[in-house]
Amino acid sequence: MEKVILGITASIAAFKCCDIIRLLRKKGYAVKCVMTPNAEKFVTRTTLETLSGETVAKDMFERPEKMCPGHISLAEEADLMLIAPATANIIGKIASGICDDTLTCAVCAASCPTVFAPAMNDKMYNNPIVRDKMDYLAEKGYYFIEPVEGALACGSVGMGHLAPPEKIVEEVEKILLCSRTANNG
Ligand SMILES: Cc1cc2nc3c(=O)[nH]c(=O)nc-3n(C[C@H](O)[C@H](O)[C@H](O)COP(=O)(O)O)c2cc1C
Repeated sequence: MEKVILGITASIAAFKCCDIIRLLRKKGYAVKCVMTPNAEKFVTRTTLETLSGETVAKDMFERPEKMCPGHISLAEEADLMLIAPATANIIGKIASGICDDTLTCAVCAASCPTVFAPAMNDKMYNNPIVRDKMDYLAEKGYYFIEPVEGALACGSVGMGHLAPPEKIVEEVEKILLCSRTANNG
């Protein structure tokens, strides 16, 4: 069974990861969630563990189940890493090589495809620094699932609304198919 490591960050759209987990599992993927410490302000570990059927990785210095640091095991067991929703903060940190929590370390150690589904305020999404970081990551081979126009946390409507969970899962499947083909060919 292919495994998707789902990184969840502190966006107002974090609750939508519940639908992403449900859709991925329905399609037969195993899902293991990794939360940033701030993500727990938006969605609980209990909800994610119940929906995914797996423990949630969060604390860097928690005793690992195996004698291998948790973030390295995550990177090794992943067929694909999906960060949905991805904050401006996580995009900036990963583009800068910062590794200060389980999610950033796991992404840094991963050799599988890594996909970002950004969600943020439209002004943040159009900030030239955020855009530069996204362009830089795309150049390095990271994938992006563009946000759509919709209601934002600030009450306005703009570009930065998380792509629909169905669209995210569809894109993940396409990327996994390409990666399977490349690995077998
Ligand atoms: C109510 C609320 C909603 C937020 N929504 C977003 C968001 O959708 N996207 C984003 O980039 N940051 C958002 N933020 C800011 C992030 O939570 C903040 O940058 C945080 O440090 C990100 O942590 P993480 O990337 O480690 O999870 C929001 C903050 C608050 C208080």
